Amino acid sequence: MLGVIGGTGLDRIPGLSIQRQEHIATPFGAPSAPLAFGERGGELFVFLPRHGGDHRIPPHRINFRANIWALKESGVKRVIGVAAVGGISHNMQPGSIVIPDQIIDYTYGREHSFFDGDFRPVDHIEFGTPYCEQLRGELIDAATLAGVEVVTEGCYGATQGPRLETIAEIRKMQRDGADLVGMTGMPEAALAKEAGICYACCAVVANWAAGMDAEPISLEAIGQQLDISMESVCQILMRMDMR
Ligand code: HPA
Repeated sequence: MLGVIGGTGLDRIPGLSIQRQEHIATPFGAPSAPLAFGERGGELFVFLPRHGGDHRIPPHRINFRANIWALKESGVKRVIGVAAVGGISHNMQPGSIVIPDQIIDYTYGREHSFFDGDFRPVDHIEFGTPYCEQLRGELIDAATLAGVEVVTEGCYGATQGPRLETIAEIRKMQRDGADLVGMTGMPEAALAKEAGICYACCAVVANWAAGMDAEPISLEAIGQQLDISMESVCQILMRMDMR
């Protein structure tokens, strides 16, 4: 079964009807929202809005462990994390949809592992390839089928938020090799890998990152851009194999 974690701008998938909602308790507390189970062509999928159904949970307060645990419990084997991001590289202008292949983690103080010695013994996942290549490929193929242009690689820089970045921070991230900046990509991707879930990210560029444009970032413009781009994301998701 395919799971979709919706980010800012995607709190439901139009065209896919939800049949039931389930509250799932986890050893880490409650996930961001009840899991929403829907069906397409006889195949079940699960949807979870990362920031809660009413978009009240800020990035640094998201219970990523509970979210991934709940999805795993529900039988999900593959998860797509949809995420709004800022564009750093020149080919990642607002409106771009990117399927990143690398991550740099700048977050701190988040519960970021199931293997913390208390709950699970110490263990280390291999994370050189942070996203599932197979699922990335399926997303790219679905985008082609949908006629939606996507950038097929890029490095996602995960920041702590909830504030946006300074211009100097973005320059540093650019020197590091980050193409995109967002606040929720980690520890989500690492937890999914620890849980044995095949995970890929569908990043939606909502704005130029700080200093990449002459104008300061406008939250209103971000909202408008996401309204437009999420329609394309849904077109891609509608063409994914839900199994
Ligand atoms: N920075 C961090 N997260 C974001 C941004 C940004 O510019 N835009 C959307 N999410």
